[in-house]
Amino acid sequence: MSDYMFMLESHLSTEQFRVVGEMQKIAAAAGVNLFLTGGAMRDMLGGFPVRDLDFTVETNPLKLGKALEKAGATAVSTDDLRKAVELRFPGGVTAELAMARQERYPKPGGRPQVTPAAIHEDLRSRDFTVNAIALSLNRASLGLPIDPTNGVGDIERKELRAIHNYSFYDDPSRMLRLIRFKIRLGYAIDERTKLQYENAREAEMLTKISPEALGAELRHIAAEPLVADVLKALEEEKLIGLYSPALEGPKLNLGGFQKLQKARQTAPSDYRVHAMPLFLTILFEKLNAKEKSALIKAAELSRQEINATQKMEAAAKKLERDLKSAKLQKPSQLYQILIKAPGELVLCLMVYSDQRLVQDRIKNYFGKYLPASLEITDEMVAASGVAPGTPKFAGAKEKMILARLDARPKKPAPEPEPPPPPPMSSFARGPGPRAPR
Ligand code: CTP
Repeated sequence: MSDYMFMLESHLSTEQFRVVGEMQKIAAAAGVNLFLTGGAMRDMLGGFPVRDLDFTVETNPLKLGKALEKAGATAVSTDDLRKAVELRFPGGVTAELAMARQERYPKPGGRPQVTPAAIHEDLRSRDFTVNAIALSLNRASLGLPIDPTNGVGDIERKELRAIHNYSFYDDPSRMLRLIRFKIRLGYAIDERTKLQYENAREAEMLTKISPEALGAELRHIAAEPLVADVLKALEEEKLIGLYSPALEGPKLNLGGFQKLQKARQTAPSDYRVHAMPLFLTILFEKLNAKEKSALIKAAELSRQEINATQKMEAAAKKLERDLKSAKLQKPSQLYQILIKAPGELVLCLMVYSDQRLVQDRIKNYFGKYLPASLEITDEMVAASGVAPGTPKFAGAKEKMILARLDARPKKPAPEPEPPPPPPMSSFARGPGPRAPR
């Protein structure tokens, strides 16, 4: 096994690694070349948690539809232009499967002309070197890294470097991406890339970013763990005004985003959250109706996204009522409510609820009950006699978790009373009775 395959196995979650195996089988059966690419490679090599798996295949991935379905994957969305599909696998693993392609931009910020390409060409037409590394998942070259722009070197140097001189002219939304990755990864921007960025700004390339690209970038920002820091950096770079001039001043709700950032740090890094509704709630908080609708138009936000945002407050209020209830006596009851609650509602209460009890209960859930529930492993359930994979298994596991949560920690046995100190002077009072042997 190559070092990279070993790294993959040790860095990915068991579920993610299983999906890599499934994808290898599917690609091998179809006779197409498959690579792990983009963010997944960057995050693994940089020592960051891998949130989504990015696969590239040297074919149209839509051709693999049937086999993917068989592996339990559901398509969350498809990008017909780029021939990419966003997938969700059982166990909550998310992945993007895209066609290896070359993108040519007839005019800055316009739609690219997309043609199928080999993996090397695909990597060379990407944005930054750290995003242009691939790992072969093909039998003949399994674990072979493909790194035509020395992205590994830049990860080691912790530097963001644009791949070519026209990177920001081709796709000016990459200027926003540059600032976002700088904050997310904590990397410096290479000097030449800085110049290219300044030149593109002077040439007013920012005005060429399409509403579609602004919306796509806003969804990425919404999902950032350091969301407040990213927004602050965009404000300092005078980029936030692309969404709404109103956000250039005190109407940018940085206080609200700081609370969201803190809430995200309290929750485990793999906590599933539908990021946009809460992000938009905080973003819209200080804007008036006119400013809100201008922002919705500027970023081409969908009706569905706006509806989800509007519905969130009522749903969070209901969860708050449930969490305040005096009937909640046992840890297992609290666990059962919060394990089922959508992540965004839980984070919404962490940002907005002024109920101390609710805040404390959520903190206990993340700090004590959720970690305790993870101590019950599938092996333990199997050892109790229930066969894995049977319908009974999930129920039996839940039962064991609930019992573990309610089992009070054993009180330590009381310390034995120390023997009374010997009398100061037995001579003064004469000899006492002899102690029994
Ligand atoms: N990409 C690009 N130019 C863009 C957007 C994306 O070159 N404007 C390339 C990058 O190489 C990136 C890949 O397409 O790695 C996938 O894009 P995306 O999913 O947006 O980013 P990730 O790198 O996967 O980062 P994240 O962790 O935010 O998902």
